[in-house]
Amino acid sequence: MSTFDSPLDRRGNGSKKWDKDYIQRRFKTSREDIYPLFIADMDFRQDEAVLKAFHAFIETGDFGYFDVLDSFYDTIQSWYQDKLDTPIEKEWIVPANGTIASMHFAADLVSKGQPIMMLTPVYGIFKDIASNFGGMVTVPLLEADGAYLIDFAQLEKEIIAQNVGTLLFCNPHNPSGRIWSYEELQGVVRLCKKRGVTILSDEIHGELNLSEKPFVSLISFMEEYEDIIVASSPNKTFNLSGLTASYVIIRNPKLRQAYQRELARFHITINRAGMSFITAAYEHGRDWHNDLIVYLKGNMALMEEQLAGLDLEWMRPDSGFLVWIRLNKVTDVDRFVVELAQETGVLIEIGSRFVADYGNYVRLNCATSHGFLGEALDKFRNFYQNYAE
Ligand SMILES: Cc1ncc(COP(=O)(O)O)c(C=O)c1O
Repeated sequence: MSTFDSPLDRRGNGSKKWDKDYIQRRFKTSREDIYPLFIADMDFRQDEAVLKAFHAFIETGDFGYFDVLDSFYDTIQSWYQDKLDTPIEKEWIVPANGTIASMHFAADLVSKGQPIMMLTPVYGIFKDIASNFGGMVTVPLLEADGAYLIDFAQLEKEIIAQNVGTLLFCNPHNPSGRIWSYEELQGVVRLCKKRGVTILSDEIHGELNLSEKPFVSLISFMEEYEDIIVASSPNKTFNLSGLTASYVIIRNPKLRQAYQRELARFHITINRAGMSFITAAYEHGRDWHNDLIVYLKGNMALMEEQLAGLDLEWMRPDSGFLVWIRLNKVTDVDRFVVELAQETGVLIEIGSRFVADYGNYVRLNCATSHGFLGEALDKFRNFYQNYAE
């Protein structure tokens, strides 16, 4: 029995994924027996070793004004070195608010009123970021052999035609979990360099690698091209999103100082609890992290079993706990999702939350126990088998 076999009871503690009113609004059901597989957080209890380290912080009883401690930078550097084989310098790291917030500040800084481009489908908030600043340009990803590929010719064409200033890049890709290859990333970097496009790379899904492929951070290309900003955090890996803390990595000193000035202008800093938790997770959570990856691979095997023989295609994520599924026999996905919720209690994410080019896809979050996921998939399977529009 693994610690992941006993997921948290999150009802009534403010968790959105388990909130009755929110579920009623989104899925039009007030069923008690629900299986929330939508919002991308995990139902696992935090690692005891990380909690212990965080308790030590609580015990200091000191929550006043503070400077970010060296240990924060040290643990991020060690994590990148040991886990991702990517050396970084301390001064490249800028502590920030949540990942989304830190990307908003970055987009505000670099977009300069020019449109922001993204490859779609993609994480829905990217649209908000683009809309809040230079406006949005989307380029559809190509689908081949159950995975997404980048259409470089189209990317270049649109950069020129729309006078794009920034590429908002999801590395690895949410919703498909695709880890881009070194060659693909190099292609993106070289194209952006050639066309003077700043890259803002969201790497929050990079630390849960379930595949044999190496995850390559765009940090690796910062020497070759200096207009790259990487935004990341252990918020997915260690389920810390509620703490709204993250960091940004910028090698180019001019760009970094401009970014720091941008945060200072609005008095934005990392909060002290978030800083302590990130430090504790990277320092003490390594065994838990290894175990989590093994457990999630088990969930993907369960997925494979339960989806076999159904009239659908699914993209096995290289990284993360989210699964992107094309429902071949469904044309009205929004209706399907509501009916699934009402009849079975299984709550999944609709494709239309992923900006554009989502077709008849849905997304399932697998970060729960084998037992709970197995029950949910059983219900999903029976419902889908008998579904007729
Ligand atoms: C690609 C991506 N970036 C950022 C976030 C959210 O980051 P944070 O909670 O740190 O703001 C998510 C959450 O689902 C995500 O999928």
